[in-house]
Parts: sequence; structure tokens; C-alpha cells
Amino acid sequence: MNRSTGDDRVVALVPAAGMGVRLGENKPKAFVHVGGSPMLTWAIQGLIASGSVDEVVVMVPAELVDATRALLPASAVPVHVVTGGAERTDSVRAGLDAAPDADFVLVHDAARALTPPALISRVVAELRAGARAVVPALPVSDTIKSVDATGAVTGTPDRSGLRAIQTPQGFDARLLRSAYATGTRATDDAGLVEMLGTTVRTVAGDALAFKITTPLDLVLANTLAAQRDPADIAGGLDTTREAVTAP
Ligand code: C5P
Repeated sequence: MNRSTGDDRVVALVPAAGMGVRLGENKPKAFVHVGGSPMLTWAIQGLIASGSVDEVVVMVPAELVDATRALLPASAVPVHVVTGGAERTDSVRAGLDAAPDADFVLVHDAARALTPPALISRVVAELRAGARAVVPALPVSDTIKSVDATGAVTGTPDRSGLRAIQTPQGFDARLLRSAYATGTRATDDAGLVEMLGTTVRTVAGDALAFKITTPLDLVLANTLAAQRDPADIAGGLDTTREAVTAP
């Protein structure tokens, strides 16, 4: 419980311990700069700017804990830095261990650096409205096919029933702890919760919450970041929402 407001306490966990090999930069991905600031700084600023988060826990490689503390923005929202793990699952578990007072947990990839604060607020609002697990979702614009090990197509699922899933993913904290207690490893936290049989709700995602994974993503992120300041991340930016949600 958040003592200042009487509301349930929302803690955001930011896994930032990945090496980001696909990006081709010679440093952990969360520390690659976008628009002059590390991706991690953008991600933390977005969470704080949402006004929906009581505390942030960042999980980084052990050798970068001190450097991360040094780059944290001054904020009324406490930001803790802990050591992540070998795989994303290990990093999220370390974050959960560092957030024993959480009622709701958001898990938000640092690599989704330009996520609009309004999206973060939508996820928290859905939790406060009673959902136990929430993911931001966007319609897919490409046709998706399944393939076998040889690359031959085995099926074409109906696109209208498919969604691309982003972060932050929001959870009742006890539910996510139960999911992690099963010991299953996953790159998608909601997937763990689905295995427990719990309904996962969706809220509208946003194209700006794309995950910076490839060099092309980095070019796009730098172009977008040039239009706003990480210290004023809530500042206006045309999200071209209609264009991205068209079927
Ligand atoms: O590699 P990928 O883009 O799927 O990573 C998603 C997020 O998980 C990134 O923010 C990355 O830093 C984080 N991660 C982590 N610990 C790991 C691997 C990935 O915190 N061991």
C-alpha cells in the first residue's frame, strides 16, 4: 500500500541487463545512447512522467550498478539499482526480490525507451480497475505465418486475431511472484501468467513503444528522440496513431 495516497503501491521493474548483441553496439543495450541519453534514462523518465509509478527498480549488469546510480535523474520517485541475471528471467526475479512491498508490478524493457507515459498510465488504470495481468497490444500489419524447421510454411493464422505485445506489462504482484515460483523460463512475463490459467487483459499499445533491437530501430529512435527531451518526455509528439492501428 502506498502510504501517501492510500492506493495500491505500483513498482516498475526495468530489466536492463541484456547485452543487446543484435544491435551491434559494443555495450549493453540499455546503455546505448538515443538522442544523447542512454535508453535506460529515457525508460525511467517515461515511467516517472506517467505519474502512475511509486517506485522503480532497475536491473543491470553487476559491473554497471555504480555507473547506473550516477546517471539516475533527480526525482521524487525512488529508483533502486540492483544486479540483473544471466537471462531476462533471472533479471526480473532479482527485481521482484527487491520490491517486497509492491501490490502491482510493471515489467518494462529499457529497450522500449520512447514509450509514451500515457501508455504506462493505461496499463496501471486497467490494474486498478481489477485486471490481474495487463499487456499493451497493437494490431499486426504484416501477415504472420508459422513455419517448420526447414522454413516451409505450416499455417497462416487469421491476422485479425493477432496482436503484437509491448511493455510495460502489468501484474498483481502476488500473481507474478507465483508465476516466477514455478521456475519456468520465458522472455514474456504474461506468458508465464497465462500458463497459470489467469486471464491476461489488453490495452491499446502505441507504435512509439517499439523495442529498439536492430540498427534500423536505432536510426528511427534517434530521429524520434530529436523531437523531445528526456527530461520532458511527456512533451508532445505526433504518434500517428491512426496510421498504425489501421488493419
Ligand atoms: O534481448 P531482449 O531485447 O529481448 O531484452 C529485453 C530486455 O530484457 C532488455 O531491456 C534487456 O536489457 C533485458 N535483459 C535483462 N537481463 C538479461 C537479458 C535481457 O535484463 N540477462
